[in-house]
Amino acid sequence: MRYVLANFKMNKSLRECVDWVHRFTELIFKVRKPKANVGFAPSFPYIKHMKDITVGTGIYVGAQNMHPESKGAFTGEVSVSQLKDIGVDFVIIGHSERRHIFGESDELIGRKLKAALENGILPVLCIGETLEERKAGKTLQTIERQLGVLKNIKEAEHIVIAYEPVWAIGTGVPAEKPQIKEAVDFVKIKSKDYVKNLSVLYGGSIDEKVAKEIADICDGGLVGSASLDPEKFFRICSEFDV
Ligand code: PGA
Repeated sequence: MRYVLANFKMNKSLRECVDWVHRFTELIFKVRKPKANVGFAPSFPYIKHMKDITVGTGIYVGAQNMHPESKGAFTGEVSVSQLKDIGVDFVIIGHSERRHIFGESDELIGRKLKAALENGILPVLCIGETLEERKAGKTLQTIERQLGVLKNIKEAEHIVIAYEPVWAIGTGVPAEKPQIKEAVDFVKIKSKDYVKNLSVLYGGSIDEKVAKEIADICDGGLVGSASLDPEKFFRICSEFDV
C-alpha cells in the first residue's frame, strides 16, 4: 500500500490547519484523487478537530508521537489509548527529532511500536542514519540496529516504515535515488519475517522533483516542510500516483 503523509511538526495554528484541510480536500475532490493513501499529522491539540472535519474525505489524521502506556503519572504525555479514543489513524514513532532532541531510545521506540499495534493504530516507524554514520560506512548497520524494535512484534499485519536519513531532514538536501533504493530494499529484506504487509516510505527534503524521481522505488513519502503548503503537498501526492 502506498502512503503520502504530511508531518506538520510544531507548525500551524488551529485556523491554519482548518484552512489547509479545506484547500487540500478541494484539490483531491475537484482536481484528482491521489491513488496513494494520504494523510497528515498536526500537533496534538488539533487532532480531534481535524478528525471531525475530515470525516468522509478518506484523509488519514495522525499523531506525531505518543506514550506507550495507556494511563498513569506521566505529566505532559499523551497515551496510546487517548489517541485510540479519538480515532487517530496513524502515529509517527521514533522520528529523528524525537530520537535526537528528546533522547528517545530504541527500547522506548520498540514499546511504542508494540503499543500502537495492540491498539489498532497504524505505526509509521522512522529510521535513518546520521551524516557521521553514513560517512563511516555504517548506514546499513544503523538501520539494522533501529529495526531491532521489530523483535517486539510478532507477524504484524501492516506497518509503515519511513527511511529518513537524518542529514536529509529539513536541510533541502534529499538523499540520492541509489542511496534511497539501497536503504528501502534493505528494510524490506530485514522486515519480512515480522510484517505481513509492509510499506516503506522515504522522507527528507521531499519536494515534487524528488517524489517524481523515487516513486518507482518506494511506497510513498513522509513530507515535512513541503507539506505545509496544501498545493505543494497535493502535487507531491500526485507524483506518487504510479
Ligand atoms: P522535511 O522533513 O521534509 O522538512 O525534510 C521530513 C520529516 O522530518 O519527516
